[in-house]
Amino acid sequence: MPHAVAICPSILSADFANLANECAQVTTGGADMLHVDVMDGRFVPNLTIGAPVVGSLAKVTSLPLDCHLMVHEPDHLLGDFAKAGAKRLSVHIEACRHLHRTVQRVRSLGMSPGVAVNPHTSFSMVEPILREVDFVLVMSVNPGFGGQSFIGSVLDKVRAIDDWRRDHRPNLRIQIDGGITVDTIGEARQAGVDWFVAGSAIFGKKDRAAAIAALRLAAG
Ligand code: DX5
Ligand code: ZN
Repeated sequence: MPHAVAICPSILSADFANLANECAQVTTGGADMLHVDVMDGRFVPNLTIGAPVVGSLAKVTSLPLDCHLMVHEPDHLLGDFAKAGAKRLSVHIEACRHLHRTVQRVRSLGMSPGVAVNPHTSFSMVEPILREVDFVLVMSVNPGFGGQSFIGSVLDKVRAIDDWRRDHRPNLRIQIDGGITVDTIGEARQAGVDWFVAGSAIFGKKDRAAAIAALRLAAG
């Protein structure tokens, strides 16, 4: 029995000057969590937002805040995100020197830990950490920007993780991030994805509720 589909709008594509209202629209529109892309200008060639914005969002939303840290060696920031109200927090396998320790720290701070994996990082690299995390975020674009095209070859990795969890950890959730639209979500669901991040496919549309419903329908 597959896990339920969750739709996670990425606020990266929202209007930052109007964030509370943008979040309210996806909340009433049926989103399951809010995906917050934190970029440091070093691990990825772009700079976005940090824990203070998460703290402000936590005051105005009832949705769980799912923070995706595209940050080189993020350990020094974890406490701030926990205090700000992050519910889930993923760190990149490529950005952490002592990944196991970092993941343990995320959990000990009361957040649900995830590991994020770039398109070029193989299943065998990620397998040793799968017992320690609650979810894996499989990047289906190279991280850094919204609105890029879906890299379909990452679905082989999704299938490998899905096979692995059947035998070892059925509760592990698989999240996908990048290029998710009504045209790509179906094949990702088929491959084993549970949680779908979507930025431009939701915030790029006028009617956010309709965009979320269309994604859910196309997920099957
Ligand atoms: C990219 C971010 C994504 C981004 C996805 O580095 O991690 O969360 O917002 O945007 P779309 O859905 O437009 O590809
Ligand atoms: Zn993301």
